[in-house]
Amino acid sequence: MTDTAGTGALPVEGVPAARVLDEIRALREADRPTHGGRLFAYVYDPGVAGLDELAQAAHAESAHVNGLDPTAFPSLLAMENALVGAAARLLGGGPGTSAPDVVGSVTSGGTESLILAVKAARDARPDLTEPRIVVPVSGHAAFAKAAHYLRVALDPVPVDPVTLRPAAADVAAAIRPETVLVVASAPSYAHGVVDPVAEIAAVAAAAGVRCHVDACFGGWTLPWLRRLGAPVPPFDFAVPGVTSISVDLHKYAYAPKGVSVLLHRDPGLRASQFFAYADWPGYTMVNPVIASTRSGGPIAAAYATLRHLGEDGYLRLAAVTRDAVAGLADAVRAVGGLRLLAEPESTVVCFTADDPGLDLFVLVDELTARGWHTQPQLAYAGLPASVHLTVTAAVAPRVAEFGPALAEAAAAARAAGPVVLPPELLGLAGSLTPEALTPELIAGLAAGLGLGAGAAPDRMAAVNTLLQAAPVRLRERLLVEFVGLLQRPTW
Ligand SMILES: Cc1ncc(COP(=O)(O)O)c(C=O)c1O
Repeated sequence: MTDTAGTGALPVEGVPAARVLDEIRALREADRPTHGGRLFAYVYDPGVAGLDELAQAAHAESAHVNGLDPTAFPSLLAMENALVGAAARLLGGGPGTSAPDVVGSVTSGGTESLILAVKAARDARPDLTEPRIVVPVSGHAAFAKAAHYLRVALDPVPVDPVTLRPAAADVAAAIRPETVLVVASAPSYAHGVVDPVAEIAAVAAAAGVRCHVDACFGGWTLPWLRRLGAPVPPFDFAVPGVTSISVDLHKYAYAPKGVSVLLHRDPGLRASQFFAYADWPGYTMVNPVIASTRSGGPIAAAYATLRHLGEDGYLRLAAVTRDAVAGLADAVRAVGGLRLLAEPESTVVCFTADDPGLDLFVLVDELTARGWHTQPQLAYAGLPASVHLTVTAAVAPRVAEFGPALAEAAAAARAAGPVVLPPELLGLAGSLTPEALTPELIAGLAAGLGLGAGAAPDRMAAVNTLLQAAPVRLRERLLVEFVGLLQRPTW
């Protein structure tokens, strides 16, 4: 019998619902595990029974609602305003605080929130032809993306190699008359350290410049950790000079993906974030965020998640996560040759290797082979290569297993020895300019590294070693080319 359904997305004849779901489940088997506390990046799992089902039901309820027009779908407006209010209250704003007029918008994620923070700052200064932003190198890459998209110049500020924080004096020195925004992280994604927000906001305020606190990662954990007694430095609207804050609900608020909140200290600061257009024959358009049509699904799911977990739920999850972080950090300390790059102060554990016989990229592969998925970070600007663990509440029951697995993986990595790439390949990576890359060279490199054919190899150490050997601009170009090889249509 001819299978008219084929395997493409658009079969000649429609496929029954149950089979379609089976197909998706079969595809999903190749994915990293989103639940169960063995994946230390990309996913945020509270391990709360029934929460997924609630979020999915809420998502389904509002999936077809369109955020394009808040007057047509007041349910969405009500839920958005409730999410913004909750985030503002958690981050030092709202009635009875020093920031009573905080307003905000719900965006699709941290990157969108950061792009909009930069856009709002840029468009508040139409007098400037060459606006600039000051961003510590530990700031999230999304600021560079914002600068690129919005044609704003980026002034990077180095971080101290030991504390991994920028100095406020260096931030002050980087501010120029054209600077429209200064950035601080609470905490940085890579290392999980909180920047000196009060000092940075003070130098920004003294220069009359906006200060954005990127709390996309930590905005929904630091307040609970503080309530539990952790020495969290001031980082929110209680700090004078902080003009906007971003916090991702699809991270530690444990909402399904597609929801972040961008807050501004007052409506005047937010005004330039909006885009309105009436100079065409269609509907008059006003968009607070980048997307125009947007699904109500993620917003309803986030609303349901917050209401169901409540403050007591988040406090409990933060306590569990804090203990998991401490346990993982101990596991790292117990392995000779590994060293914490920073003492954990939030929900990140980040470690490096001091022993040249212990190749971190091989260690990551050995952990992967044992079912533990960590995130390698390449050496950069004097900072060593490292391994990043985003720790969520679901990790807690796994901590006791992680220690032995890490020790075993480290022993295996030592036995295997560091990655040795052919000298000519390393030489090429060190000397090539992005402009000199030809399609043939890229195809040769990709084949040599086992990339292509629609999938990444199981072992990534060679790829990471090659990328690390390349200067930053070449790294970027290689990444674009390699991912371009993966993103090919199936017919
Ligand atoms: C501090 C920080 N800012 C921004 C982002 C970007 O968020 P998203 O991936 O939701 O766009 C992240 C993501 O990890 C982050 O950790």
